[in-house]
Amino acid sequence: MDWIEQLKNLMGNEIISTKTSDLENCASDYTEDLSFLPNVVAIPKSVEDVSAILSFCNTHEIPVTPRGAGTGLSGGSLPVCGGVSLSMHKFNRILSIDEENFQATVESGVINETFQEAAKEKGLFYPPDPASKGSCFLGGNIAHSSGGPKALKYGTTKDYVLNLEVVLPSGEVIWTGADTLKNSTGYNLTQLIIGSEGTLGVVTKIVFKLLPMPKHDLLLLAKFRSIHDACKIVPQLFIQGIEPSALELMESSAVHYVLDRSDNISFIVEEETKAYLLIEVDGNDMEKLFADCEHINNVLEDANVIEVQFADTAEQKEKLWTIRRSIGEKVKSHSIYKEEDTVVKRAYLPELMIAVKDIGQEYGFETVCYGHAGDGNLHINILKGEMTDEKWTGKHLEEGIRKIFRKCKEFGGTISGEHGIGFVQKKYINEALSPINIDIMKGIKAVFDPKNILNPNKIWR
Ligand code: MLT
Ligand code: ZN
Repeated sequence: MDWIEQLKNLMGNEIISTKTSDLENCASDYTEDLSFLPNVVAIPKSVEDVSAILSFCNTHEIPVTPRGAGTGLSGGSLPVCGGVSLSMHKFNRILSIDEENFQATVESGVINETFQEAAKEKGLFYPPDPASKGSCFLGGNIAHSSGGPKALKYGTTKDYVLNLEVVLPSGEVIWTGADTLKNSTGYNLTQLIIGSEGTLGVVTKIVFKLLPMPKHDLLLLAKFRSIHDACKIVPQLFIQGIEPSALELMESSAVHYVLDRSDNISFIVEEETKAYLLIEVDGNDMEKLFADCEHINNVLEDANVIEVQFADTAEQKEKLWTIRRSIGEKVKSHSIYKEEDTVVKRAYLPELMIAVKDIGQEYGFETVCYGHAGDGNLHINILKGEMTDEKWTGKHLEEGIRKIFRKCKEFGGTISGEHGIGFVQKKYINEALSPINIDIMKGIKAVFDPKNILNPNKIWR
């Protein structure tokens, strides 16, 4: 009997599927147009199921690729070695929201926004808000320590996790820490699991800390004649004492791609506008927020801003955020592309921008840039355009991307701010990490997963 039959006999047909539709659903994620069929899809319903599946796969050395909503952009959930795609979508319960302690315990397949809304109903705030918050799972957010616009003021996923229930590749189940705001007891396994891209264990439950919900927010849209002008003002805003809750950059071409592919967004990109900054402030004191906006306006007017618009209504705010959040998806629907997730010290953003455009010219690719300017985290979408398949898939493009990443290093940064390394960035990891760092990480992997069954062929070559 082969391993698939054995696993089916062990777990039942409801949990182990070989249906073509299930295999195809789990073959790809949001990463480019990549696709790798698993041999089976496992759909566990309990931590005991996950434990039994991992224990079986460990014994038989079958690759297991954990899968959340598949919204990742570095190929973390692609079953590149076949085997089992472990789909966590049945782990969709919010187990408790503890209003007394400002904490919540959730399963890892809960959708980010569903959790945000549930917390909000109790007056509590869970800030991490990736662009895909309407569909991405909290477990996937743990895998990459996902951020989003509000990461600027509030931090990323890692700043909200107190404790994790994790199934190890052996099938053993552990809690990584304690449900406390402080913990100085041994190594910090919680933070080790966060960002480990599903290579060390499968997260089944998460204990989050929450904040009180800020009562108000205000949003400004600033227009610039060049992306360089927009980037240059970013560090100045902080130097002038402004603390935005979000500070996002959109190149005008990014906005064009959204508008071209959206039916009902009325928004005009004027000829002279080449870049936008979306600036949000939040808090409990409306008068202070209006004063902050005036302050921002003054700083922008001293710079090369064309115009600053105030989003007066909830609908206007929603429209601007919809444009911003759909850039990645709309660019992808327009062209074969690659997405880079560069991050630098934010004062180097203008230099990074210049370098990216120069490298694009040298190697013959168009770039669409946008992202979390306040964090120095610039998303660069590289469009295939007229480039030949040979150049696109070969050393030519790889060399151009390497040059961009070297610039990131030069500017105090690294090669991913929030999308992770996964499958598609692993060939570049040596641009960011020294051989010693990589060896330490491989050693950690070997302790957790000596048979290398869990999400193999990710992060490293
Ligand atoms: C974003 O900020 O839009 C997200 O990281 C997703 C993306 O880059 O497509
Ligand atoms: Zn982003």
